[in-house]
Amino acid sequence: MADRRALVAGNWKMHKTAAEARAYVAELLAALPARADVDVALCAPFTALGAVAQAAVGHGLAVYAQNMHEQAAGAFTGEISAAMLLELGVAGVVLGHSERRTHFGETDRALAQKVPAALAAGLAPILCVGETEEERIAGDTERKLRHQVQEGLEHVPRSRLGEVAIAYEPIWAIGTGRVASPEQAQEAVSFIRALVAAASAAAGRVVRVLYGGSVTPENAAELLALPDVDGALVGGASLDPGSFAAIAAAASTP
Ligand code: PGA
Repeated sequence: MADRRALVAGNWKMHKTAAEARAYVAELLAALPARADVDVALCAPFTALGAVAQAAVGHGLAVYAQNMHEQAAGAFTGEISAAMLLELGVAGVVLGHSERRTHFGETDRALAQKVPAALAAGLAPILCVGETEEERIAGDTERKLRHQVQEGLEHVPRSRLGEVAIAYEPIWAIGTGRVASPEQAQEAVSFIRALVAAASAAAGRVVRVLYGGSVTPENAAELLALPDVDGALVGGASLDPGSFAAIAAAASTP
């Protein structure tokens, strides 16, 4: 993982009320390794963000949202702006998760606005990309990743490209227990890094590329040891504080 600092983010999806989130954070803080060489983030539902931020304050635990609207304000019923997130103590935001793309019509066009809007507002974006099983079988993985990465980063100023974390999440590995092989993960993640490097060599060296899709305490160490993998986006296994702490610990192993 070179000298890039690992980022381990737990994506709770639509799980946990604010009260459940508070209890979780207390357990997680007790279980997390007392090392400072990994960034740990919880991507909580909107309604739990404030509770997580308050419980995490001063403990080096960051709170991320799972989505954000690209506009600063306006007639967008049901949407949430960057300023609303910042007011709650949110540090970053997951953008373009495949569940948002599949179930809620999130498009690469919208992401081309959302990623720079998050950065401009002071939120650290995690842009999610990944191929379906059909695309992999058809040999279309690189074409899909190239399209998603290039469009998602299109309006990000070159000088800030390295601040966008990119999560490679093969859709066939999300929530299925079918984790990508180390070879598949390394190949896709290094391809993504090369795409960023083609736009800015400096950004290619510092950009953090995460792996996501059925990461568990059992397989985390092998995935996190891959040369281009700089962390993990963890769904199911992040719902239990003990499991998530174990994955964070795997990322901090020298
Ligand atoms: P999973 O989800 O770890 O449950 O596969 C990953 C994700 O959706 O980010």
